[in-house]
Amino acid sequence: MKHKTIIEPFKIKSVEPIYVTTEKQRIEYLKKAHNNPFLLQSDQVIIDFLTDSGTSAMSAEQWAGIMRGDESYAGSKSWERMENAVKNLTGMGYILPTHQGRAAERIIYGHLGGKGKTFISNTHFDTTRANIEFSGAEAIDIAIDESNDPALIHPFKGNINTERLEKLIQEKGPKNIGAVILTVTNNSGGGQPVSMKNTREVSAICKKHGILLLLDCCRVAENAYFIKHREEGFENKTYEEIAQEMFSLTDGAAMSSKKDALVNMGGFLALRDKAMAEACTMLLIITEGFSTYGGLSGRDMEALAIGLKEVFDPAYLEYRIKSTAYLGEHLHKMGVPVMMPIGGHAVYIDAKKLYSHLPVDQYPGQALACELYKKAGIRTVEIGSVMFGKYDETGKLIPAPMELVRLAIPRRVYTQSHIEYVIETFDEILKEKNHVKGYKITKEPKFLRHFTAHFEEMK
Ligand code: F0G
Repeated sequence: MKHKTIIEPFKIKSVEPIYVTTEKQRIEYLKKAHNNPFLLQSDQVIIDFLTDSGTSAMSAEQWAGIMRGDESYAGSKSWERMENAVKNLTGMGYILPTHQGRAAERIIYGHLGGKGKTFISNTHFDTTRANIEFSGAEAIDIAIDESNDPALIHPFKGNINTERLEKLIQEKGPKNIGAVILTVTNNSGGGQPVSMKNTREVSAICKKHGILLLLDCCRVAENAYFIKHREEGFENKTYEEIAQEMFSLTDGAAMSSKKDALVNMGGFLALRDKAMAEACTMLLIITEGFSTYGGLSGRDMEALAIGLKEVFDPAYLEYRIKSTAYLGEHLHKMGVPVMMPIGGHAVYIDAKKLYSHLPVDQYPGQALACELYKKAGIRTVEIGSVMFGKYDETGKLIPAPMELVRLAIPRRVYTQSHIEYVIETFDEILKEKNHVKGYKITKEPKFLRHFTAHFEEMK
C-alpha cells in the first residue's frame, strides 16, 4: 500500500517544554520587546520559526558521538572523522574547520577580497555580503529574472542569470572577479534550488575565464532533493551522488553546518588549491583555532560528521521537503500569498500583497510578524524593508524589492500538529487582514537594524 501521509521518520526520545501563553500575555511581552520578535525570550514563544540555523534536533547517534568526542588539541580522532566525512562529500583535498559559516566566509573572502574586486552570486546571504564588503570588495546578485516574482512557478528559481554573468565578467575584467558564488539553496531568494544544468553552465563560464567558483553549500542536501525530483537525468542517482556532482563542478565551498549537517554549531571551508588552502589555514590559526579543530570542540566535530551522513537519508529528505511544502501549500490554498514554489527550508509570505493597504514605509512584513506572535506565539522574521531598507539624502525610505516574512522550519523539531496549529492561525490572519495597522521605527542602529530596532504601532 502506498501511503499519502508523510510521517516524521523518527521517534521522540527527549523533549523540551513549550510554554503555552495567552494572547493577553503575548501582547504584553511584545510591547516589552518593542514590537521586535528578535527581542523576545524563547520561553515566550510557542512555535519558533525565526531560523532553521543551529536549531536542529540531533539524533541519538549524534548524542552518542558527543560522548565519543576526542578533545585533543592536535590530531583529534573526531577531526579525522569530520575531515573524512567532508572530503567524501566535497571531493576536495583541503578542509578547514570553523565555528560557523561566517567564520569560513571571513577567511576565504578576507583572502580573496579587497578594493577593486567583485563577487557575483545568485543572491549573497547577508553575512556573505557583509564579509565581502568589509574586505573593500563589492557583491552583486544576479539570480534569474523569474526569482523576483513571488507568485511565478519555476522549478529552479535559484539559478544564476548566465547572460548577465558573461556581461559582468566582460565589464569588470576576469582578473577583478574575486569569485562566483552559488548559494544552494538560495536562502535570501526564497530557499529556491539551483539546477545541475545551471551549475554546469556557470562552471564552464568560470573555467573559460579562469575565475574561481565557490559553493555556499549550507543547504546542499535540500537542493539535491529538488534536482532528483525536478531535473531530467537524476531520477536514479542518490542525493549524496547529486551533491557530490555539484561539488565536483566547483573549486571550493563554505558551509554553515548549522543547517544541513544537523548540528547546533559548526562550519567548514573546503578547497582544492594547495596554495590557497595554506594561506587560509594561516588565517584560520590566527582567528579560529588550530587546523585540526578550527573553532570547534571535538564533540561538535563528531556530531557534524554524523549529521552530514544522516541528512542524505531519503526518508529524512522526503519528510523534510514535503513537510515544508505541506505548510506552504495549505497556506496557498487558503489564499495566503506565499512565494511559489515552496522552498526547502522555509515558507515565505508576501506581506506587501497580504496587507496591500499598508504602504512599504509602514513595514507590512513587521506587521505580519507581530500579528503572528500576538495571535499564536509564532516567531518569524521580516525579510523586507526593515532588514534591507535604506534612506535617501532627505531621509525617505528606499524600500527593499520585496516585503517577505520567513517561516523557517527547524529540522526534526516540530510535528504535524504544530504545523496544523500554524495553518489554523492563518484563518484568523486572513479574516482580520484589513484591520491590521502598520509600524514605525522609533530607534535603530546603523548596521543590521532588524536585530535590535524598536517599533511602534501606527495610530
Ligand atoms: N550562507 C547562507 C546561505 C546562510 O543562510 C547563512 C546563515 C550563512 C551563510 C552564515 O552562516 O550563521 O553559520 O554564520 N543563515 C541563517 C539564517 C542565520 O537564518 O538564514 P552562519
